[in-house]
Amino acid sequence: MVPGQTVAEELPALDLARPEIGPDEERLVLEVLRSGRLSLGPVLERFESDFANWLGVEDAVAVSSGTAALHLGVRALGWKPGDEVILSPFTFVASANCLLYEEVKPVFADIDPVSLNLDPAAAEAAITEATVGLLPIDIFGQPADLPAFESIAASRGLGILEDSCQALGAVDQEGRKVGSRGNVATFAFYANKQMTTGEGGMIIPTDPAMAEVLRSERNQGRATDMDWLDHDRLGFNYRMSDVTAAIGVAQVGRLDELLEGRSRVARMYMDRLSALSDGSATGLVLPAADRPPARRSWFVFPVRLPEASDRDGVIRKLGEQGIPAKAYLPSIHLFPHLAELGYREGQFPVAESVAARSLALPFHTGLTEGDIDRVASALNAALGAG
Ligand SMILES: Cc1ncc(COP(=O)(O)O)c(C=O)c1O
Repeated sequence: MVPGQTVAEELPALDLARPEIGPDEERLVLEVLRSGRLSLGPVLERFESDFANWLGVEDAVAVSSGTAALHLGVRALGWKPGDEVILSPFTFVASANCLLYEEVKPVFADIDPVSLNLDPAAAEAAITEATVGLLPIDIFGQPADLPAFESIAASRGLGILEDSCQALGAVDQEGRKVGSRGNVATFAFYANKQMTTGEGGMIIPTDPAMAEVLRSERNQGRATDMDWLDHDRLGFNYRMSDVTAAIGVAQVGRLDELLEGRSRVARMYMDRLSALSDGSATGLVLPAADRPPARRSWFVFPVRLPEASDRDGVIRKLGEQGIPAKAYLPSIHLFPHLAELGYREGQFPVAESVAARSLALPFHTGLTEGDIDRVASALNAALGAG
């Protein structure tokens, strides 16, 4: 190294996330552009059927975002103003916003300290006369305890909306692909997800009648057998364009490969960082190991810093080395528009403690062993152990 030169000047900065886009995506997008059918065309239908085949379900309805999928899911379940739905606060804000859109009250309950997902016992304890449903989220790609939630839902007469937006490709405790259990389930395809369409989402309906309503509601309330300006219900513009769907066709075609690429990077992180965790000087907590047949789908690589560490300082020190890292996730019950429903600090101690210490490291399929070494060494140094 030249005297005075820093590591950051010598090595290019890493990306926190990066989509893997190849020649298939480019070719299929170009074909759509040249076809003149940019919306509500055959490529949208092909994406839906390829996705449903991959997941092993009857049908899938593509929409403009994961949030749109959740919103239509709330409506499909018939949840109404004043109803209550139970979910974890350790999630992305859209999991709760989709309820607010329909004036349904998000009722938070604490998380399990290992899976970081909604704790079934806490969820059951939060049930009131007004409860109509459960909204389990597979946070960080870790499958929520759907068998437990389904049994609670069955005994209490509740609906289930699965927010699997972070978990495409995960396998649950009974060996089934997340989102394929017959509940209303949702996925998201933003550019940092396991597969992307740039922006986009998918909703898995429980039956053909629900699928028909979803297809109508995403398209301004127009039924498929109606004319362009005929509308028989309230709808939205939640359509996914065929240009976007073309990226999805290519991505779902190599989804297994994309998932394996993410697992490979996660394994490298686990190997390299396990030396820093558990009883070492740094006391870093790594993502929980899989409990077969359940299998996480790697969305991000989140670590938990030791209680006493200065997370902002760690983020700054990593940044100085060209390594972006993000405090991820906050516990959303403390956001002003949710806190005003009566939530306050200290109510969900597990979620709050995890939220205060979690850090997402660079994570995408383009990372090499050298990159992972670089992140691990910098993290070690930032934690004061290097
Ligand atoms: C858990 C969860 N739910 C919902 C969403 C919303 O998806 P979108 O950004 O596509 O609207 C996301 C997106 O990151 C998410 O992580």
